Amino acid sequence: MSDGLHECKNAMLALEGSTVELPVWEGTEGERGIDITQLRGKTSHITLDSGFANTGSCVSKITFIDGEKGVLRYRGIPIEQLAEHSTFLETAWLLIYGELPMREQLKKFSKTVAETSLINESLHYHFEGFPRTAHPMPMISAMINAMGCYQPALYASEGADFDIAAARLIAKVSTISAFAHKKTVGEPFRYPHPGLDYASNLLHMMFSVPYRRYNAKPEVARALDRILILHADHEQNCSTSTVRMVGSSRANLYASVSAGVCALWGPLHGGANMAVIDMLEQIAGSGLTTRDFIDRVKDKSSHTRLMGFGHRVYKNFDPRAKILKEQCDAVLQALGANQRILEIAIELEEAALNDEYFIERNLYPNVDFYSGIILKAIGIPVNMFTVIFAIGRMPGWIAHWREMSHDAAARINRPRQIYAGSPLRDYTPLKMR
Ligand code: ACO
Repeated sequence: MSDGLHECKNAMLALEGSTVELPVWEGTEGERGIDITQLRGKTSHITLDSGFANTGSCVSKITFIDGEKGVLRYRGIPIEQLAEHSTFLETAWLLIYGELPMREQLKKFSKTVAETSLINESLHYHFEGFPRTAHPMPMISAMINAMGCYQPALYASEGADFDIAAARLIAKVSTISAFAHKKTVGEPFRYPHPGLDYASNLLHMMFSVPYRRYNAKPEVARALDRILILHADHEQNCSTSTVRMVGSSRANLYASVSAGVCALWGPLHGGANMAVIDMLEQIAGSGLTTRDFIDRVKDKSSHTRLMGFGHRVYKNFDPRAKILKEQCDAVLQALGANQRILEIAIELEEAALNDEYFIERNLYPNVDFYSGIILKAIGIPVNMFTVIFAIGRMPGWIAHWREMSHDAAARINRPRQIYAGSPLRDYTPLKMR
């Protein structure tokens, strides 16, 4: 077993008149897991865990979450400290390599990211193949995979080849995301500016036009950088598990993270911040009171969810939402932006937090509840919200792919199932059906 784990007293499973002993491992923060790797061999049973809510798919040293206490740490460092003091690129290094970078390391990494943010000119033609109405997420997933075709050392998980691949992915995902936006709005691509910090450069590539350069206000660049930090990793969520799942077949880094982008696109995962804005605008435009809307959410037959609320892991509060709530106020004030949407969000939050339905089910605002409001105030179109999440999540995906590649115990991921379909039956020829 991995270092960082220690063995506890075995668990005893009583099954069909006999008892099976199963090892129990404890991690550095006291989390315990029953090791069932031998279960099927010993008992011919498997476990059934729909949605994997009780399944530990790996041992990881990257991110720690305590959902009950609202704790999130990257490599042991609280997210609140990183949001306050760090930058996205420094946090990216921390996630991927496990330690905060030394001054020279950060300088070199930032320089590599800045200098590799251009994409090969041939890749520009790929964008011509997409319709203007396409959502940017499939464009980004496709472009990441296409970018892999230009990389000589696709499979490196260590050394200079890996370092350059990781820096390039972080650099170029921002460029292709901005280009996907330009494609959608029908404007010419703007090349990256190596003199700008990561967030300002992204905003420049998205919003500069040939006759007017976009200069991000420092508050805006800082808010975006902070959003990227808060999204940089979240242990075994759906998209990261997808990256690990794809990577477990020894698929290369580009192919694996490109699959992660697809997983993130779903409205129950990264797509939720778009859904939050849709919901808030719908309330603002419909004349519904927030109370009416909450009542609709509670009526199961309406199939309406309070978007930006609830989380599979956080059952107390999402620490990222807390940080962004403060940030939200600051950005709206700096930009003098429309506060109505924020007011509705605050009313909804207050109503939900005092309502038995949400209290009983431990439903609290998640990171998407406030990130969408900030992104909208900055001027980022709603269809780019999930893209910003993907840019932020890139270091986490890379870190997990690398960790998995180094794990000697890692095997191809291949869950089992309980078959509940038809028992054995014979084929009926077409003319007899
Ligand atoms: N609004 C209303 N009711 C909700 C909500 C919500 N947002 N979330 C959960 N519930 C209810 C469910 O209907 C269910 O009620 P029941 O026990 O009466 O059947 C109960 O709470 C448990 O819900 P599950 O769906 O089982 O919770 P799960 O952990 O599977 O889902 C999820 C978590 C998908 C995030 C869910 O809370 C949700 O759909 N939220 C809205 C979408 C969203 O904001 N997603 C972003 C997640 S954060 C991220 O990806 C970065």
